[in-house]
Parts: sequence; structure tokens; C-alpha cells
Amino acid sequence: MQNLEEAIQLLKNDNIIAIPTETVYGLAGNAFSDNAVKKIFRLKNRPWNNPLIVHIGSLNELDSLAKDIPEVAYHLASTFWPGPLTIILKKKDKVAKTVTAGLDTVAVRIPDHPLTLKLLERLDFPLAAPSANPFGSISSSRAEHVENYFKDQLDLILDGGECTKGIESTIIGFDQNEEPVLYRHGSISLEQVEEIVGEVKIFNQSGKRPIAPGMLPKHYSPETISFLTDDVLKTVNLFKGKKVGLLLFKEKRPNLPLIHQEVLSKSGNYSEAAKNLYVAMHRLDQKKLDAIIFEKFPEEDLGKAINDKLRRAAHAAQ
Ligand code: TXA
Ligand code: MG
Repeated sequence: MQNLEEAIQLLKNDNIIAIPTETVYGLAGNAFSDNAVKKIFRLKNRPWNNPLIVHIGSLNELDSLAKDIPEVAYHLASTFWPGPLTIILKKKDKVAKTVTAGLDTVAVRIPDHPLTLKLLERLDFPLAAPSANPFGSISSSRAEHVENYFKDQLDLILDGGECTKGIESTIIGFDQNEEPVLYRHGSISLEQVEEIVGEVKIFNQSGKRPIAPGMLPKHYSPETISFLTDDVLKTVNLFKGKKVGLLLFKEKRPNLPLIHQEVLSKSGNYSEAAKNLYVAMHRLDQKKLDAIIFEKFPEEDLGKAINDKLRRAAHAAQ
């Protein structure tokens, strides 16, 4: 457990380290230290108006960060925490505006990873942590992805293995009437949330600045130019003579033998596909292809969240 001791020391001294979570790796720092929080923004090259998620180790800590917490928020927290649900609540003054990018709300979750839970238990402050990737690029679901991005800039990457969920947490907030609002599709399906709280409105950002970068039209992108399509063969035909990679849901296309193909779940399981999504995207991106073609998923269950990521990762839709 040497790494855990080292992690604690580094964090206490306002350093930033990479931590594993069940969704994706995070770049973590003391959420109560302005100095540490600023380092996170700089490291990630993240715009200052994009707030960070605050990670806590137990439900008791929620009251120290947030006020006027709706009953339904406790209900969601007790159902899904530790787990991939982030809840947006009114912030207490103690939470610095650097973390929340000037907003009077704070995003909070308890991550479900044994190593990070142990770490949080040992700290007397929560951890602000965005996904461990430079702003706009593919998130990291393995320690090696973090290393490729930030090799020389991080003192420590806590390796907790491959993330079991593989896509980011689902983000839920509340409107003035305490009605739940979906801010970001993620690892818990909309259907699962609605089972607990009834119908959830989808946040409509029209006319407003995007307050969740997960909501920016372009995000999670490979370096290689990428396209999203529901007709793979037709799109492949546009790239005759080019080196193309395919990111597919269930089945390879055997009649396209020369094309590099990644299948996300042979059995058509959405959770498995989500777990493999960024791993496969990173792998395709490293092949230095001329283009990557993403196959659209059915708009149900986690297929919705996966499509949301693919849509933003793609440079163009077909
Ligand atoms: O699964 C996850 O949530 C991962 C792991 C590391 O926990 N974290 C993550 O962080 O995805 P990041 O920074 O890549 O995305 C956080 C999202 C952003 O879209 C941000 O705008 C939104 O949360 N967010 C944070 N605070 C918010 C707030 N007060 N209101 C609205 N959106 C907020
Ligand atoms: Mg991110």
C-alpha cells in the first residue's frame, strides 16, 4: 500500500494525482485548496468556466458541501452511491468558486472503486477530479491512457486496473421546483434514474453557455477524423483506397477484411460495450488511420449514452 501513502502525502501538499474510478480515471486534487484546483485546470487545459465534480467518501460529507438538498436527491444518492451518478446541488460557501466555475451549485458523487474509496477515507478533504484527459480528447479507462497523456506532468498515477463501467457518470440536477433534470448521459441509464424519481427532463442548453462540457458539441474526440453512421457499409464506401477503422457494436463486417475492426460487445450487451468504448477508441486512434467510422447504437438503455459520446467524438455525422 506504499502508493496509497504516497498519494495521501502528495494530495495533502496540493499536488495532483491520477485516481481510478469505476467510470474513468480522474485527475484529483484537494477540493478545498484553490491552489490544487487551479493546477487541475491548467494540467487539463480546461476552460475556467467548466466546473469540476467533487468526490466524497461517504454520504455524511454531503451536508458540508451542499445546502437545501431535496429529499429526492438523498433518495438518488442512497440508491446509486457509491456509483456512477453525479448530483448537482446548491453549494455551501465552503466550496470555492474555482471548483464550480463561478456557479452557485456543486456537482458531487461517491465513486465506486475500492482503492479510491480507501484513499477518500484517509483524507480529511474531498477530491475535485475531472476525467484524466486533455480537454476535449478521449477519456482514460486504463492507467496507461493517463500515462500516455500526462507522463511527465504527474507525480503519481494510482493504477486501479481497467475501469469497470468505462464511460462517465450520469449527471442529474434539479430545477426551481426540485424536478430532476438530466445534465449528462452516462453510466447509469436514464431508465434506471426514472425508476427512482419518475420522469426526468433533459437539460436544454439553447441560448445558454454550455455549463457541462460533456454537453459541448465536440468532446471525447480521437485525433483521427471520425464519423458516426447508421449505415457502415455506405460510409466505408466513401473511403475507397484509404486506411479506415471501424468501431462496431456487435458484429464484424467479414466482407471488409482489410479494415481494422473493433467490436464492443459480441453478445450485444450495452454495459460491456460501454466498458470497452474508450479502450477501443484509443486503440483505433493509435493506428494512425485515415478515418474512423463509428456505428450508431440503438437509442435505448446505455445505447443512448454511448451514442451521445459517439456523436460528440465524431468530427462529422453521416
Ligand atoms: O465519471 C465521472 O464523472 C468522471 C470521474 C473521474 O468521476 N469525471 C468526469 O469529470 O467526467 P469531467 O470534469 O470530465 O466532467 C464533469 C462534468 C462536466 O460536464 C461539468 O461541466 C459538469 O460535470 N459539472 C460539474 N459541476 C457542475 C455544475 N455545478 N453544474 C452543471 N454541470 C456541472
Ligand atoms: Mg471529461
